[in-house]
Amino acid sequence: MQIRTRFSMSADGYVATPDGWPPLVRDPGFVSGQSHGFPEFQQRCEAVLMGRVTFEPALANDRWPWPNLDVFVLGSNVPTEGAPVPIVTDSDPTRLLEKLRAASRGGDVHLVGGPRTIETFRALGALDKLGLFVLPFLLGGGTMLTPSLSTDTRLALEEVHSLPEGGVEITYACS
Ligand SMILES: NC(=O)c1ccc[n+]([C@@H]2O[C@H](COP(=O)([O-])OP(=O)(O)OC[C@H]3O[C@@H](n4cnc5c(N)ncnc54)[C@H](OP(=O)(O)O)[C@@H]3O)[C@@H](O)[C@H]2O)c1
Repeated sequence: MQIRTRFSMSADGYVATPDGWPPLVRDPGFVSGQSHGFPEFQQRCEAVLMGRVTFEPALANDRWPWPNLDVFVLGSNVPTEGAPVPIVTDSDPTRLLEKLRAASRGGDVHLVGGPRTIETFRALGALDKLGLFVLPFLLGGGTMLTPSLSTDTRLALEEVHSLPEGGVEITYACS
């Protein structure tokens, strides 16, 4: 099991818009779960892992973003009503990681975000790959990956490729 992010960012480095949405949703080519290489990425994953703030909007989505994937959410007060699948939650990241490992069938885990949850699992030594994709537009403001993510993370470039929608995907191995 490898825990990996696939985090979108604008060309000027923002990972959330000023009103709190992932930059991806501002891309005119974005179709939830169907564009930007997500179908291929999700096929190699068996689960998604995220923080409560990232999870909550999915409950109101027309389309469930993680079909066929187990869902694990970190948080002390995670609402789950309306979710079409069972949601595994815990307020303790170490305990949630144990639940994730106990359920593992060997596939990858998509650490969806947000920055605070990525840093939480990185600090536990559980983040294997930091995947980012840089979108071809500017936001001019919003949230950056750091300072939430510790800058002492050591990154080794593993893969780069361009996406049909004009973005560039970069994967780093973390240590
Ligand atoms: N660019 C992208 O691809 C992308 C992807 C996903 C999200 N985002 C953006 O990221 C932003 C949200 O990120 P965020 O960092 O603010 O929130 P988050 O990581 O999604 O969720 C934070 C919540 O997770 C729980 N949590 C996190 N660390 C914890 C720890 N060490 N111990 C216990 N609980 C912990 C807490 O839940 P409780 O408060 O319930 O205890 C905390 O309030 C949004 O703006 C979203 O749009 C961007």
